[in-house]
Amino acid sequence: MKMVGIVGSLRKDSIHRQVFNHYREIASETFAVEEGVIAGIPLFDGEDMDNPVALKLADQIRSADGVIFFAPEYNYSVSGALKNAIDWMSRMDPQPFAGKPASIIGASPGNVGTARMQYHLRQIGVFLDLRFLNKPEVMIGGAFDKIKDGRIVDDSTVKFLGSHTERFAAFVNQ
Ligand SMILES: Cc1cc2nc3c(=O)[nH]c(=O)nc-3n(C[C@H](O)[C@H](O)[C@H](O)COP(=O)(O)O)c2cc1C
Repeated sequence: MKMVGIVGSLRKDSIHRQVFNHYREIASETFAVEEGVIAGIPLFDGEDMDNPVALKLADQIRSADGVIFFAPEYNYSVSGALKNAIDWMSRMDPQPFAGKPASIIGASPGNVGTARMQYHLRQIGVFLDLRFLNKPEVMIGGAFDKIKDGRIVDDSTVKFLGSHTERFAAFVNQ
């Protein structure tokens, strides 16, 4: 199985990029996770739809078994960069996200662990016809203590992500 992982933060030191990198390793026994890059996708204006980064992302999503969003919570919602990439995908034909199994992994320094963003992303997924895994929800609170130097240093979080890979693989197989 092959999943596409989309990191919704463009920050150089993004904790979601760190989680993405470590998650890939954890998942490697169950499925491959290839990055779907969103950096470089221009702001959507509906005019020139030939952007190579966006076209590549659309192809990757179409050919993947599932999509995993590594998504930060910005102002209680989805980051602008991720929403912009989603808006691009939503105007592609055939629809990359239609019927695609998906899951969300989010981390935040506070306690809420991106919960508010996750329900917004699930709502966006209704129109896109994404098939989100309901449980487990992966909301990593206190992230600055659990993610250091590019690794998840909290054992229970690593274990939890391991169980997430198995649950998501089973969901995709269904
Ligand atoms: C523009 C902006 C808005 C943010 N809004 C929230 C928020 O609503 N809730 C929250 O828990 N953290 C919020 N944060 C803090 C982020 O959770 C934190 O910066 C985290 O590191 C973002 O993930 P990243 O490192 O992958 O970019 C915000 C950060 C930024 C830059």
